[in-house]
Amino acid sequence: MKLDRFIANHTPHSRQTARLLVASGRVTVAGERVCDPRFDVDQFVAIRLDGALLQDRPALFYMLHKPVGFLSATRDLQHRTVLELFAPELREQLHIGGRLDRGSSGLLMLTNDGSWSRRLTEPKIKLPKTYQVTTLRPISSETAERFAAGIYMTTEQLTTSPAQLLQLGECTCRLTIYEGRYHQIKRMFHAVGNQVVSLHRESMGAIQLDPALAPGQYRALTAAEIASVDQVSRSS
Ligand code: URA
Repeated sequence: MKLDRFIANHTPHSRQTARLLVASGRVTVAGERVCDPRFDVDQFVAIRLDGALLQDRPALFYMLHKPVGFLSATRDLQHRTVLELFAPELREQLHIGGRLDRGSSGLLMLTNDGSWSRRLTEPKIKLPKTYQVTTLRPISSETAERFAAGIYMTTEQLTTSPAQLLQLGECTCRLTIYEGRYHQIKRMFHAVGNQVVSLHRESMGAIQLDPALAPGQYRALTAAEIASVDQVSRSS
């Protein structure tokens, strides 16, 4: 396997970032610095990024009930981060698969498996993510149609995948989207002249937020939950 692919598979970094990390001299293979991202490696040789060994770590998969007010980041000088909710021995190992805004709550997945977490958010895999949304103004009758047709996002110059909106009340709905673009739901509602007041993620693919988890609590994912993400990837 090429070194850049190995790093992408064992960290949250994309293959492109992995190439830059290797080129900038931050990776060693069997104790020697290697700057060629196409260097061939196998599982038996020690590969380190900034001195941290990338192999032989037990795979970790968690769901967290993210409370409002916590940042989906590993470190921040200003705000509390979701990693601070985890036991100290886990904090250094986990990264987030599919962020939620600071003001949003609900299901957040954390893992040390970079290729698994990428599948949660990769737009071409189209893993459904379902949210309960409360809006400032009543949700108009054409909102569901506009979302089903896709909303054009000027920054990315693309149209969102058809999303399903189920109206629950005048200003509440359950919305399923298939990507995880920056502030996607807020921008979708903004595009139809409305504003999101609260956002709570209920599920990602087949994984539902465990109702036994109070805000701030987490638990390990089951084997079936972990495998469910691979099943969606294979069928897409
Ligand atoms: N869309 C948003 O706008 N915010 C989130 O936290 C998640 C999806």
